[in-house]
Amino acid sequence: MSTRDMRPGSTGGADVPGPLYGGPDDDYTPEQLAAMSRQDLDRLGARYDGVEILHVDPGPEPGSIMEKRAVRQVGTVFALAGLFAFLFVVVYVGSGWFLPDWHWDVTEGGWSAFFTPMLGLFMGLSLLCVGVGLVLFTKKLLPHETAVQDKHDGSHFDRVTAGATLVGGWHNSGLARRKLITRSLLLMGGGVGLMLIMPLGGLIKNPNKGNPLGTTSWAEGVRLVRDNGTPIRPGDQEPGSLETVFPAVPGGNRQADAATMLIRLRPSQVDNLRPREGHADFAYGEYVAYSKICTHAGCPVSLYEQETSRILCPCHQSMFDVTQGAKPVFGPATRALPQLPIGVDDEGFFVARSDYIEAVGPTYWNRERI
Ligand code: FES
Repeated sequence: MSTRDMRPGSTGGADVPGPLYGGPDDDYTPEQLAAMSRQDLDRLGARYDGVEILHVDPGPEPGSIMEKRAVRQVGTVFALAGLFAFLFVVVYVGSGWFLPDWHWDVTEGGWSAFFTPMLGLFMGLSLLCVGVGLVLFTKKLLPHETAVQDKHDGSHFDRVTAGATLVGGWHNSGLARRKLITRSLLLMGGGVGLMLIMPLGGLIKNPNKGNPLGTTSWAEGVRLVRDNGTPIRPGDQEPGSLETVFPAVPGGNRQADAATMLIRLRPSQVDNLRPREGHADFAYGEYVAYSKICTHAGCPVSLYEQETSRILCPCHQSMFDVTQGAKPVFGPATRALPQLPIGVDDEGFFVARSDYIEAVGPTYWNRERI
């Protein structure tokens, strides 16, 4: 079987490793390669790589009106990508500094309601412009070449010719002389880079500061109100009934983690009341208040069966016993529903005596740190 190299461009060197460089290095010494121009090396490497160029469209004439117009279009789109990325950074960093603060509680029509959509909008527009700019750049400014390539063997020859190919790519892109695009690329790269690393700031800054995942709007003295905002007095409910209540704060009835069940126990249930440890004084007379958010996967629980003193979660059938501090007695939930300590204020309306003393809702990764 022949071992002669019959590839295009080969002068017939053996395709077994040569004494110094191996493979096609047998055909050309380093001195010969160093004496060739970049274009010659590029073409030579292409031939040795088995590349067949089928068609070449050199792109717009340098300095032509068509090229200038394309450069302006591409530069504008890249600059817009950078601008939108910087706007993302401004919104992200400026909140609470020179822009209104963003709180975890979303209020209708307020800054907090627009914070995340604005971040998404600016990031989306920026990435869209990056994509559009790259497509325009490729289509309108780069030479178009249709070629078929086989493989390379990683010899010194390949490294030299591959380097020439890369340099040729940079040269053919015209970026070295198209300053507008280079500057807009720098703007885009800086903005998009900042935009992408900016969210990491949340990891550097203590993400648990203020324990936003572990607190709700309930606090000492905050009244328990119905969905329509009316406060509740002891005696408003029938024994054995349940009512969903919210904190009397702006937007309180839209805060998913604050929804609470106020339950008036029947006298027989009061006799059987066995609060959890540390919760002995959380009830007020025959009233108890528990979080409405299931501790399994966060569904709202409120199917209350007063005969069995159980609250059923409709999602996966967890059951909680309201006379035992809402401990789970059936189903996948493993944690009791958090209990809200309640009392009455000077006017006789129900108020919270503090926030929940444990995290509301299902488990999340850093619960132990809260
Ligand atoms: S969410 Fe309540 S049981 Fe699964």
